[in-house]
Amino acid sequence: MTPRGTGDNGITPELTQSPRRLRAVEPAEAKTAPRAPEPPPHNLPSELSSFVGREKELAEVKRLLENNRLLTLTGSGGCGKTRLALVVASEMVDGFDEGVWMVDLAPLADPALVPRAVASTLGVREQPDRTLTEILSEYLGSRKVLLVFDNCEHLIEACAKLAEALLRSCPELRILATSREALGITGEVTWFVPSLSLPDLRHLPAFESLPQYESARLFLERTAAVKPTFEVTEQNAGVVAQICYRLDGIPLALELAAARTKVLSVEQIADRLDDTFKLLAAGGRTAVPRQRTLHATMDWSHELLPEEERTLFRRLSVFAGGFTLEAVESVCAGEDLTRDEVLELLSHLVDKSLVMVREESGEARYRLLETVRQYGWEKLSESGEEEQVRERHAGHYLTLAEEAEPELKGEGQVAWLKRFEREHDNLRAAMRWLLDRGESEKAVRLGWALWLFWWIRGHFAEGRRSMERALTTGGSAAMPPSARAKALFVAGTMACGQGDNGGDVVAGPMPAEVLDRLVALGESLCLVRGNADREVVAAYDDRPHADPIDVADPAERLSKRKSESSLILWGRRGTQTATTTSVTEVIEVTGYQL
Ligand SMILES: Nc1ncnc2c1ncn2[C@@H]1O[C@H](COP(=O)(O)OP(=O)(O)OP(=O)(O)O)[C@@H](O)[C@H]1O
Ligand SMILES: [Mg+2]
Repeated sequence: MTPRGTGDNGITPELTQSPRRLRAVEPAEAKTAPRAPEPPPHNLPSELSSFVGREKELAEVKRLLENNRLLTLTGSGGCGKTRLALVVASEMVDGFDEGVWMVDLAPLADPALVPRAVASTLGVREQPDRTLTEILSEYLGSRKVLLVFDNCEHLIEACAKLAEALLRSCPELRILATSREALGITGEVTWFVPSLSLPDLRHLPAFESLPQYESARLFLERTAAVKPTFEVTEQNAGVVAQICYRLDGIPLALELAAARTKVLSVEQIADRLDDTFKLLAAGGRTAVPRQRTLHATMDWSHELLPEEERTLFRRLSVFAGGFTLEAVESVCAGEDLTRDEVLELLSHLVDKSLVMVREESGEARYRLLETVRQYGWEKLSESGEEEQVRERHAGHYLTLAEEAEPELKGEGQVAWLKRFEREHDNLRAAMRWLLDRGESEKAVRLGWALWLFWWIRGHFAEGRRSMERALTTGGSAAMPPSARAKALFVAGTMACGQGDNGGDVVAGPMPAEVLDRLVALGESLCLVRGNADREVVAAYDDRPHADPIDVADPAERLSKRKSESSLILWGRRGTQTATTTSVTEVIEVTGYQL
């Protein structure tokens, strides 16, 4: 069966193939042959900061990936796994005709979303009666593709399972993973990402040659960006070398330290780091050395922050996968932090390398590196503000989604779909929190605002699961009929998208008042098109039906296709999915314009 809603009614879910691959050929262009073949597609981000050293490592990793189908770059937080993987991937694009696709797994909290994230990246959508892994296996088939699974550590099992299944059925596929631990599957080759090379403190070279060591070069390049007047001299070269040494050549630690040269001299930085590390040694922490060093550097960097910056920093860790200034103002302002202060404090955190910024679609978008976010999250949990901040986060994305809803059905649809895609991780985090807290009614409001996005982008399982949870978790009993009806509508619509037109969304009889609401929903949707509906209904009836409805009685089948009346009929049968499916049909039949 094909999912419903693939007709010409404006609510068509997206194509199996990502639109970015489709390119119109102009007639003039077609005549002027021959053209150089287009380079393979990819979605690798272009980095703004310089990449330092790693020549030997790059060659080695590329060689390993040429000879093995699953290579995992391992190592502790901030040691440069992601950065190295991105450079390797970008240098290997030409070898993969069907492209190189990076899947950022860091923002995902739910292992079930791993195949979904890969499918979204590839533009592959769910299909009825098949698992996403099967669909992905078929899609990738014998395509020559490199997938980069970035930051797998918190979803190891799900990543391992998917990688194993895909590699088994797709002979030309290769996977480059980054993870703090190995995936642990047959055929996997792991490669430990070393620290950047360090100067030997006992045999320091002439100060001009200090940059031959990668750690010093990274420190000096990042320092030059914040303090262009800084120069290595005979006097300070030893101190720079000491800092690199202290920081074990860990790129993230070096970046955090270098960001401070704007206000502290290198001597001051070295002294303060010394104090932090002594304290650390006295505390006898047990983590492995690089982890310990990085944690201490984070402590150091954090302790140097003025109080308001600390407050903002820990609150930022609530975001998943990036955020805008507007979101920070609404989520992080509050007790002891005003909206007006946020921009300035945020730019200080950017200056200190704790927050990354890049421009996306004409807007600055911020994010925290994963290690930094986890550190911030520790601080947020300790502060006792976690609940409040998560509530504000959920509230912000609920408002955003609800405000966008009319736009999503109007001229702003394309722009809003993109915006929702960018905010998808935050929207998911908000939904998860609402459901975990038993805030079913708010979860339904969010689902109601998002259903069209889920539908068009094919996030059926995600939409259905959230609404089914909303209908069954703690707060659901107190939910008013209108909210229940909406949840059923969305869950049923998503079930329908999955090709599941039969089973109940939620077992049990449907109360009359919920049914009434469902009918009302259907009717209000019908009203959108007014009198034109009748014609559309008639045209629909004459159209061959791609998805035969599984109902024995032909009269009922006909009736099911007949918009509003079918809704009532199916409602009386008490089958909730069928009822909600029927509502979906009303939308289809009436050609409800988006
Ligand atoms: N060779 C390099 N040259 C320049 N910058 C680097 C290099 N390696 C890493 N960095 C920078 O160091 C920081 C940490 O690197 P990265 O995010 O790759 O670490 P990671 O090992 O993936 O960390 P995590 O375990 O948290 O995912 C980033 O800002 C990155 O750009
Ligand atoms: Mg990483």
